Amino acid sequence: MALSVVSYRWPAHHELLTARQDLRYAGVMSESGRPGEQVYDRWLLLGEKRNEVLALWEVQQYGRDSFGDPDYVSIYGLRPREWYERGVRILGRTAVECTRDRLAALIGHDIAAVAQTAPAASPIVADLFAGSANTLYWIKRHVGARRAIGFELDDAVFDLAWRNIAIMALDIDLRHDDYQRGLQALGQSGEDLLIVFVAPPWGHALTGKSGLDLRRTQPPVAEIVDVTTAAFGSHKLLFAIQVFQTVEPDSLAEVTARFPWSALKVYDVNAPGHNHGLLLATSGWTVTRTPALPRS
Ligand SMILES: C[S@@+](CC[C@H](N)C(=O)[O-])C[C@H]1O[C@@H](n2cnc3c(N)ncnc32)[C@H](O)[C@@H]1O
Repeated sequence: MALSVVSYRWPAHHELLTARQDLRYAGVMSESGRPGEQVYDRWLLLGEKRNEVLALWEVQQYGRDSFGDPDYVSIYGLRPREWYERGVRILGRTAVECTRDRLAALIGHDIAAVAQTAPAASPIVADLFAGSANTLYWIKRHVGARRAIGFELDDAVFDLAWRNIAIMALDIDLRHDDYQRGLQALGQSGEDLLIVFVAPPWGHALTGKSGLDLRRTQPPVAEIVDVTTAAFGSHKLLFAIQVFQTVEPDSLAEVTARFPWSALKVYDVNAPGHNHGLLLATSGWTVTRTPALPRS
């Protein structure tokens, strides 16, 4: 098993912003849309506003309050004002959980770089935990996948994402199902390379002390890998697992031990200490020439 760690350096104005207390200021909008004291952070959007459809100003306020950028939740290649004007809508939880354009584009780019080294010619992509389907959109776009299939279990998240996909004409097959049942129903796909994107809810898996514990995501990452390889073990698989910049080492080792090749990447696009990463891993084939993992 080869594990390489590559880190992008992307100095940004975000670096000037530190703890979220620093971002609290008076004069933000209240729930009613009038100036108030309410801070739009992940706790508000994953709690009280979890299943509420957000107004445009709320999406922008979340970006402003939490990241110093009203356009933070850019998805499907559009800024919030642009996607909102087209009729796209998201829930509070999805604003937090979605992988925004800037990161999703980098992820798509790196997956494509590895996929190009695979012997199979025609990849298909499955996002097991699709959410907004924005990551799936960017992976499909970079990889040039023949098919893009996503599974989303939650009723309200699915309904909105399905509608958004139609509005944006994204050519994504979003299925309202549990990932495990969805995989079983996929059927076999000949000699194709199956790219499997894995970003399950983190729940309480992320702690400041040891980082993201891949054993505590819901479901655990190793379980997701085992379910997928049991269903498609005879195929060439490329796993792309979204992680945090720090990953609990034993939980990482437990996952990487399952693969002949893996590589870990961290994207410095947020403030220090708030960045995500990607664990790329092959099953049924191995990377023989090191892919250049370029910057988008
Ligand atoms: C972290 S979010 C994914 C965000 C996504 N990458 C995006 O760009 O929007 C995880 C999603 O998985 C969904 N989910 C949770 N358990 C699931 C399961 N067993 N099968 C399919 N979807 C599931 C949740 O409802 C949530 O929308």
